[in-house]
Amino acid sequence: MDKKVSVIGAGNVGATVAQRLAEKELCDVVLIDIVEGVPQGKALDLSEAAPIEKHDAHLTGSNTYEASAGSDIIIITAGIPRKPGMSRGDLISANAGIVKTVTQPAAELSPKAILIIVSNPLDAMCHVAYETSGFPRNRVIGMAGVLDSARFRAFIAMELNVSVENTHAFVLGGHGKTMVPLPRYSTVAGIPIIELLSKERIDALIDRTRKGGAEIVGLLKTGSAFYAPASAAVEMVESILKDKKKILPCAAYLEGEYGLNDLFIGVPVKLGKNGIEEIVQISLTDDEKEALQKSADAVAELKALLFKS
Ligand code: APR
Repeated sequence: MDKKVSVIGAGNVGATVAQRLAEKELCDVVLIDIVEGVPQGKALDLSEAAPIEKHDAHLTGSNTYEASAGSDIIIITAGIPRKPGMSRGDLISANAGIVKTVTQPAAELSPKAILIIVSNPLDAMCHVAYETSGFPRNRVIGMAGVLDSARFRAFIAMELNVSVENTHAFVLGGHGKTMVPLPRYSTVAGIPIIELLSKERIDALIDRTRKGGAEIVGLLKTGSAFYAPASAAVEMVESILKDKKKILPCAAYLEGEYGLNDLFIGVPVKLGKNGIEEIVQISLTDDEKEALQKSADAVAELKALLFKS
């Protein structure tokens, strides 16, 4: 393949991302992890599936960063996953240290790469990667909104018994309980869901979306969601590598957009070969603005913890 994507953290999310990238023949994949043998073993296992899955993507596993040099995209999934009862805040010091340690060598060896951050707590980890890499803001992007929107879409499709392909949803704000699903901009075959569902049902779907990560953690008991997070990261990679210019909700560093400054938060962005090519500013009602501000306050609180840790 003529593109290279490095995935740092070969755990559940990282390995699933590697599998999907290879099976879609989007790029060669370098898997990196701190645990000896794991990235090598998973890369080899995926390579051995290639003849059956019919792809020619090359997969390499390593415990060091040399193989990642010259990557087009680096996806950071390294970290400790959330355990039952653990808040995103609890995760912050552990994962901030890990994200810093992995971003440094990866960014140095691939100075032109686009960083996609998956590690949680997402908005704060984006900040760590942004500061550590020194990359411009168009090349540091957080994966959250695509996942939250996919969850909302899945619940809308289940509720109305329609194809998921007919659904479209927008979820903005921080990746957590204060996320801001926007029913006015969420549609089924172009029809806003506010015309198809009662307010009560929409509120129930929104509540389930807000708690989507915790619902999976509660079921799995050990570890957190990984199939949908991996799919979401791969959709972002595809839009960038193919320069599709999809508009997707992603965590972006804001400098005045939506009246917010100096923080990463989920907003609609256009993703193309340059990373974030535009931050799309949609009009919000007063209630939606207030919800976004509340979400931004929660993100700022987590970010403040970061500088204390
Ligand atoms: N360098 C490289 N890899 C590391 C490091 C490090 N310093 N520290 C941890 N890792 C690796 C672990 O060895 C593990 O293989 O990161 C991987 C994380 O994988 P999992 O524990 O399976 O977690 P996963 O479900 O993949 O989630 C990863 O994404 O969705 C978020 O909240 C989730 O922050 C978590 C991240």
